[in-house]
Amino acid sequence: MKEELKKVVTSAKSEINSVVSMHNLMQLKSKYIGKKSILNSFMQKIGSLPKEERPAFGQTLNIAKNQIEQMIADQEEKIKELDYNKTLQSESIDLTMPGRKRAKGSLHPITKVWREIEDIFMSMGFEVAEGPDVEDEYHNFDALNTPQDHPARELSDTFYLDNDVLLRTQTSTVQIRTMENHSLPIKIISPGSCYRNENDASHSPMFHQVEALFVDEGVSFTDLRDMLNIFVKKMFGDKIEFRIRPHYFPFTEPSAEIDIICVKCYGEGCNLCKGSGWLEMGGAGMVDPNVLEKLGIDSEKYTGYAFGLGMDRIAMLKYKIPDMRLLFENDIRFLKQFS
Ligand code: PHE
Repeated sequence: MKEELKKVVTSAKSEINSVVSMHNLMQLKSKYIGKKSILNSFMQKIGSLPKEERPAFGQTLNIAKNQIEQMIADQEEKIKELDYNKTLQSESIDLTMPGRKRAKGSLHPITKVWREIEDIFMSMGFEVAEGPDVEDEYHNFDALNTPQDHPARELSDTFYLDNDVLLRTQTSTVQIRTMENHSLPIKIISPGSCYRNENDASHSPMFHQVEALFVDEGVSFTDLRDMLNIFVKKMFGDKIEFRIRPHYFPFTEPSAEIDIICVKCYGEGCNLCKGSGWLEMGGAGMVDPNVLEKLGIDSEKYTGYAFGLGMDRIAMLKYKIPDMRLLFENDIRFLKQFS
């Protein structure tokens, strides 16, 4: 019997040491030391032993029971520790892992050009003036000497919100608003949005212009040309030429259109300049005396020049963007190139 008991303890030991779940451990507990356990069956056999052997076997049995109880308690600790480690592992954070990168925004090419233009003109003594996007006919047309029957007034070009309320088609409105409120001399630029009912590769229904106005005694066309020259060189580099072509605007006399030499082919003719070697940048001219007089400015004493440049055009030329619509589609792949 003693030998048998020894075997039981040995097999209990190997079984108990190899379980890893609490549930299985409890099963072994009832198998070896529970009510209907192997050890209990030994207990019942004590009666069949000779009287003198009983106490000694009883003692051996007790020792075996204590051993097995200890084994179970030890294994229970091990299993608990194992479970704890597993939880630790599953809940742990790797502090050495690199963080998730936040996408960093960048300035829109128009914003970049806008700020650069402001810097250039402010360094030459111009102030930045503002006017509303929603305008009346007076500031957008009448005060700018634009006749009632001018084609630009028609609905096909101008977005009317109401009878006399429209989205400004040009920043020249700010010329008028400034001359209404500002004492002379006036030297301002006015960058901002304009709106016209047009939409193709070089026209967008919402676009940006920068207006410049300089009114003082003795301002001449030469001053206009010099200022444009300084601006073009600062914006595009010393190599870039520009030209002034006669044109018509109702509020300037004489009027001109400003072209710069193609930034891609330098006058050779290419697809960007459609073979002409030149790129249109805006309009300019000497403020028409009619405009000055209507605002109470003595046109015998004062003269002024004005020009309006397309800022989207400038961005397109500077960054060689082939289609204006790219500027307003907000395609992240396009915008990323400017970060
Ligand atoms: N406002 C004119 C346009 O949008 C441009 C311009 C501005 C012309 C100032 C002359 C003087 O076409």
